[in-house]
Amino acid sequence: MKAKLAVFASGEGSNFEALVKASRAGELASEVVGLICNRGKIGALERAARLNVPAVVLSPKDFSSRELWTDGILNQLSLWQVEWIALAGFLALIEPKLLQAYPDHIINSHPSLLPLHGGPGMYGSRVHAAVINAGDLESGVTIHTIDDQYDRGQILAQCRVPVLQSDTVDTLEARVKAAEIAFYPKVLNELVTGRIRSVKSI
Ligand code: GRF
Repeated sequence: MKAKLAVFASGEGSNFEALVKASRAGELASEVVGLICNRGKIGALERAARLNVPAVVLSPKDFSSRELWTDGILNQLSLWQVEWIALAGFLALIEPKLLQAYPDHIINSHPSLLPLHGGPGMYGSRVHAAVINAGDLESGVTIHTIDDQYDRGQILAQCRVPVLQSDTVDTLEARVKAAEIAFYPKVLNELVTGRIRSVKSI
């Protein structure tokens, strides 16, 4: 039986859609059983409706504490019998209680070659602007496990893309995103099937 996977997103949801499609195409030994968002009116929710994937919005603002918010998430995950969690542009810090419930089973994709250009506030176009400003010759995607700090945790796999002299934030972001959409399901599949446990560069 396929391992049950929940995706957490806060934005556009292109990685969420890529994971759903990979799963339905038999390229991911895992079934996307649901989407959890920390805010409403986002692209990821529209995609979930179009793809017929159950989705819930659980915003910390609707709970009196982050602990109760986490309990709400854990409840939903248990209803869906989730074994793996893939963060895909999820912009809220995961609380220790959730980390403890899913040790090494919460994975994130970051659009740079961590440890470069990660950490609090480093998301979306800010990451690509930082890469261009630093004059880096390459960027890429890092898939890593999650701990209680942004963009830390164990690096599981990285893929690289060139940074061109003519790049703008938008062109670099598009190149990295295209690589990410192919790479994230592949790495997740290797992880779920037990083929990777440690650093790997592709
Ligand atoms: C991705 O580039 C991911 O690496 C980062 O946020 C972006 C989310 O994009 N964490 P999308 O919502 O999947 O389109």
